[in-house]
Amino acid sequence: MLRKILKWTGLAVLCIIVGVAVATMLRQNLTYDAPYPAIQASTDPAVIEKGKHLTLVTKGCVHCHSPAENVEAMLAKGEEPSLAGGKKIDTPFGVFFIPNITPDAKTGIGSMTDAEIARVLRYGVKSNGEAVLPFMQGLDMSDEDMTAVISYLRSLKPVENKMPESEFSLIGRVAKAFVVKPSIPATAAASVTKH
Ligand code: HEC
Repeated sequence: MLRKILKWTGLAVLCIIVGVAVATMLRQNLTYDAPYPAIQASTDPAVIEKGKHLTLVTKGCVHCHSPAENVEAMLAKGEEPSLAGGKKIDTPFGVFFIPNITPDAKTGIGSMTDAEIARVLRYGVKSNGEAVLPFMQGLDMSDEDMTAVISYLRSLKPVENKMPESEFSLIGRVAKAFVVKPSIPATAAASVTKH
């Protein structure tokens, strides 16, 4: 009797493990449709200055996207830390590299449209349709602030700095398959679909 129970429990556990493994594999590259906010970068110096403040101070993009180790000290001196990426985030979920967000076409955001940058900030959907990692979620801003941030990024000198691909650990892959989702503001929930 006990053997029978053990046998069936064992089989059930095995089926669950195989099921989760297969689902994890199938769900590694889920993509989402989200609208593109109608944002257009401006070259107006006042808008760029506002974007600089949001990027370097209020929204803190610089803390993740700068390779500089002394961001606070540089800001205190009124210097502008580079946004060429380079920091590595080492977690049990994997090793993640923070991308270059200077306008370099090959290694930065030069080939992304304004609307693509706005979409990842608002909906957490990257240019390739995948959900952005949770580090980048919750950065939604008004259209005006987003225009300012993107205008500032576009005004920077392009820096060529290719970052390695992020690597997910086993648990990271499971989290990517089942937990990581776009961060959709409640007002826009109906406009994001998964496939
Ligand atoms: C807590 C750290 C963190 C902060 C703060 C942050 N980012 Fe990011 N950002 C990341 C990481 C990590 C990625 C790569 C995520 C991925 O590939 O899923 C990323 C990716 C991006 C991308 C590329 C998206 C794509 O389609 O590949 C852009 C553009 C970007 N960030 C802009 C910004 C801007 C603008 C801000 C400030 C408003 C900001 N980030 C704040 C960590 C951060």
